[in-house]
Amino acid sequence: MNKLIQTTYFFLSLLLLTGCDFESQTTIEISTEQQSVRELLELPAHMPTPAIPEFNPLTAEKITLGRFLFYDTRLSANQQQSCASCHEQGRAFADAVAQPLGSTGHQLVRNSQGLANIAYHSTLTWSNDTFFELEDQLNVPIRADNPIELGVTDAFLEEVLLRFSSDDDYQQLFTAAFPNSENDDVSMNKIIFALASFVRSMISASSPYDQYLAGDKSALTAQQIRGFQLFNGEKFECFHCHSGINFSSSYKDANTATDAIQFPFFNNGLYNVGGDGSYPSDDQGLYDLTLNPADKGFFRPQGLRNVAITPPYMHDGSIATLREVIEHYARGGSNTVSGVNAGDGALSPLKSGLVQGFDTTDEEIEAVIAFLESLTDQQFITDPKFSNPFEPQTAQ
Ligand code: HEC
Ligand code: HEC
Repeated sequence: MNKLIQTTYFFLSLLLLTGCDFESQTTIEISTEQQSVRELLELPAHMPTPAIPEFNPLTAEKITLGRFLFYDTRLSANQQQSCASCHEQGRAFADAVAQPLGSTGHQLVRNSQGLANIAYHSTLTWSNDTFFELEDQLNVPIRADNPIELGVTDAFLEEVLLRFSSDDDYQQLFTAAFPNSENDDVSMNKIIFALASFVRSMISASSPYDQYLAGDKSALTAQQIRGFQLFNGEKFECFHCHSGINFSSSYKDANTATDAIQFPFFNNGLYNVGGDGSYPSDDQGLYDLTLNPADKGFFRPQGLRNVAITPPYMHDGSIATLREVIEHYARGGSNTVSGVNAGDGALSPLKSGLVQGFDTTDEEIEAVIAFLESLTDQQFITDPKFSNPFEPQTAQ
């Protein structure tokens, strides 16, 4: 029987909107299992416990192995790229380009996502209603042949596995991570389970915003608090789609895993090609999977943690700055004036009713930007436990 442990969470409360206190307290009972996850992830009290799938329990040993694999170019067929090529710690595990190239030079059509607090997402990637667990999604960067990221297709699988199984250091890491395995073989499953564990361990919870939630009322400036109120107000409407601890409608945690939100997708008026709500033909979001015309331009509201250091923005990296992002929403959509993708997103028939446009001032825009900057977590982007284990540590 699980011993129940009491813990206190801080919840953002709607009181905020009426200008009262920033938060209220609720006491929730959590199991010893959840408690061990919290300890492993060093979660502060204001963070909920993420849902860890039963088939891949979180352990320190899997996280360690996953960290080595994440930074190892031997995990790409031609040994040119690792996960970290597109997911850099100093950029909160995003990269600096609109759309990256894969290991063979293949041009991807999407912007690399930052990897903070991925464990809380109910769906993964910019627009997919079938990826609920990292163990499914991670096959794509490693194994897919179109587009090629790491390029470990069937033809290269044996060779890549041999690189790890013939390395004594890795052999020890694999044995420690999978002590109950029937054999010591290195398999793609073990690689993916370890990588998923490392990605789940990437918790960002030390930003000024977090310090504020944890009780340090001096952590945010008056301008940032004003920006937070605007973000959560009925004029800007941001919070409807960017909600919760991660600022995304894609959300689950250990207590809500069974009723997690599995359709967190919206069209935010970025395009309106030809006036029928279409997006550029190389990426129409959810529509490309469902072929339902009503799903054109449906993407997942990206989590906004560390957003100030992850430009450019949107699924295709088409917006360069946070100011331009806010101007996009204030306008009620983006206008592409010329070219094959011409069309005014503000007039899109498929755009969400929450993107109506609004009158705003420079002062308000600056406040919302200042709030978004308060989500930058210096500890997360310099924490040695997420850094490249093949490079010697430099003093912080
Ligand atoms: C060539 C660049 C590239 C490489 C290499 C790469 N990624 Fe990504 N990653 C991306 C892009 C682009 C996306 C968005 C994909 C989409 O929406 O279809 C993404 C999305 C993700 C996501 C989903 C994040 C979310 O918010 O849902 C995770 C997790 C992830 N990558 C982890 C990894 C891991 C682990 C590796 C190594 C095995 C890896 N990536 C290798 C570019 C890359
Ligand atoms: C109707 C839901 C909705 C509303 C309202 C909304 N967003 Fe978004 N947001 C989205 C979606 C969907 C995306 C991804 C769209 C894409 O990539 O094509 C997004 C993307 C973003 C991004 C880019 C993140 C990145 O890493 O690329 C930022 C920043 C952002 N929104 C901020 C805001 C702000 C600020 C507001 C309020 C003014 C707001 N959003 C209102 C749905 C919404």
